[in-house]
Amino acid sequence: MILLVGASGNVGKEVLRQLSASGRDLRATVRDESKAADMRNAGAEPVVADMSDPASLGKALEGVEAVFVSTTATPTMTDDQINLVNAAKAAGVKRFVKLSVAKADQEGCIYARWHHPVEKAIMDSGMSYTILRPNGFMQNFIMNAGTIQSDSAIYAPVGEGKVSFVDIRDVAEVAAKALTEASHENTVYELTGPAALSHGEIASIIGKAIGKDVNYVPISDEQAHEVFMSWGIGQWFADALLDLFVFYRGNNMDHVADDFTKVTGHKPRSMETFANDFAAAFKG
Ligand SMILES: NC(=O)c1ccc[n+]([C@@H]2O[C@H](COP(=O)([O-])OP(=O)(O)OC[C@H]3O[C@@H](n4cnc5c(N)ncnc54)[C@H](OP(=O)(O)O)[C@@H]3O)[C@@H](O)[C@H]2O)c1
Repeated sequence: MILLVGASGNVGKEVLRQLSASGRDLRATVRDESKAADMRNAGAEPVVADMSDPASLGKALEGVEAVFVSTTATPTMTDDQINLVNAAKAAGVKRFVKLSVAKADQEGCIYARWHHPVEKAIMDSGMSYTILRPNGFMQNFIMNAGTIQSDSAIYAPVGEGKVSFVDIRDVAEVAAKALTEASHENTVYELTGPAALSHGEIASIIGKAIGKDVNYVPISDEQAHEVFMSWGIGQWFADALLDLFVFYRGNNMDHVADDFTKVTGHKPRSMETFANDFAAAFKG
């Protein structure tokens, strides 16, 4: 039995989709019973559990051999996921796969500082582990669909910084392998796309995919923070996002890793492929 924690999330959903096709026994946590039917329809046995409530995790972990966790990055995620690590170890789980973030061990940005303590707890637990450290997701650009439609523009405070964005579908492919194949045990994979690209280059690729000129428009950190706050996402989230863009701007996430190809035997999806596949989302 494989337990997925975060199976309704952006990454978790894709991991569940890919694993359910393999016919494995899957269980997925939901915090709200109302999501149980979705999990059942997607091929997993639902169980109500919340990582912030350790007592709820025992039932979820009964008979589980492998755990996958990919949950919303928040200031409480670190403690919540460590609760899950401790409960998994106590329940006799053999393999633990965690979705982390690129260069988490360097703790150079807020997200890395939230993820790295969980990585360390997993490594110290004695369970076999695979840590997946993806760079920013290509799918994040769907958040820019509104201004691409209204202004033919992507606004961001990222200067000319280049980032090797990776497609969520590729991240999920490696996660599915790590959960089902022994050869990935006690390994850390840095997952990137095939090229480091500036936002100007990405705007142009998306423009080609949807048949119109799209420009990248640099904005100040103050303007960006104001935009993030206008989304109603809260101060901590706006601060973490801005911190990430500043990190991108310094070319701290422009590494191109070959771990994806080593694991899967094929190349990761390019930004062009992503933009073509999601053209309808950008067009609206
Ligand atoms: N976005 C990027 O570019 C990027 C890049 C690299 C790494 N990452 C990392 O990727 C991870 C996943 O991102 P995502 O976009 O897939 O996240 P997401 O869509 O926000 O994940 C939502 C999932 O987290 C679950 N969840 C949240 N808190 C929980 C708790 N206390 N107990 C149990 N489940 C909980 C939710 O469960 P319910 O269904 O019960 O609500 C839901 O299934 C994050 O940790 C992020 O730091 C993101």
